[in-house]
Amino acid sequence: MERLQKVIAQAGITSRRKAEELMIEGKVTVNGKVVRELGVKVTPNKDKIEVNGVPIDREEPVYYLLYKPSGVISSVSDDKGRKVVTDFVQEIEQRLFPVGRLDYDTSGLILLTNDGEFANILMHPKYKIEKTYVAKVKGIPSRDELKKLQYGIMLEDGKTAPAKVKLMSMDKKKQTSIVRLTIHEGRNRQVRRMFDAIGHSVIKLKREEYSFLNLRGLNPGDARQLKPIEVKHLRELAVTKPS
Ligand code: URA
Repeated sequence: MERLQKVIAQAGITSRRKAEELMIEGKVTVNGKVVRELGVKVTPNKDKIEVNGVPIDREEPVYYLLYKPSGVISSVSDDKGRKVVTDFVQEIEQRLFPVGRLDYDTSGLILLTNDGEFANILMHPKYKIEKTYVAKVKGIPSRDELKKLQYGIMLEDGKTAPAKVKLMSMDKKKQTSIVRLTIHEGRNRQVRRMFDAIGHSVIKLKREEYSFLNLRGLNPGDARQLKPIEVKHLRELAVTKPS
């Protein structure tokens, strides 16, 4: 017997957290009965589980790395008809969803999978997966301002964890700079808010690295399947790096 939300996540419908939301909303049935309680356990191959009236069946797990262009939503659909990350892997029959999110205006590396358990592991705040961003910002941050980013800066949802910061280049005439920032938290709009907090707002933002993965060989809009060894390595990172 397994928890219902875990079985739904493993079936590739969505993440476990989203599955819980679907349950609470009354969109999940087991043997024809709506189940809203999160503690309910089921036997996957015996109980008939449906989400939005559609039976779930276990899919082969697949893992993709996408170079998300800016101007794309990190979601599987958009009610305003804007492009979404899954538009870039349309030939895949599995129902993929993004691991975490990048802002609409942010480009860069994002993982897509149908494996809800894998996504949950990587997104869990206790597993400090490093993410490296390259930001073009207004003005030229001083050493002290960069140190604030490095040691942690107070945002409205608390102080940020220590980060790696490097001023890559500056354009004195245009009064802009390129800064490389590595963080392992994943708060909403965190990088933009960190730069806002030192008075150098972000003009352009790209995520270049996610742990040991990078965008080498890819152009915006390109996706590639992760190698089995990369999937294994990501799982191991999460398992061996609890705080
Ligand atoms: N931080 C941001 O501000 N935006 C992103 O898309 C990712 C991290």
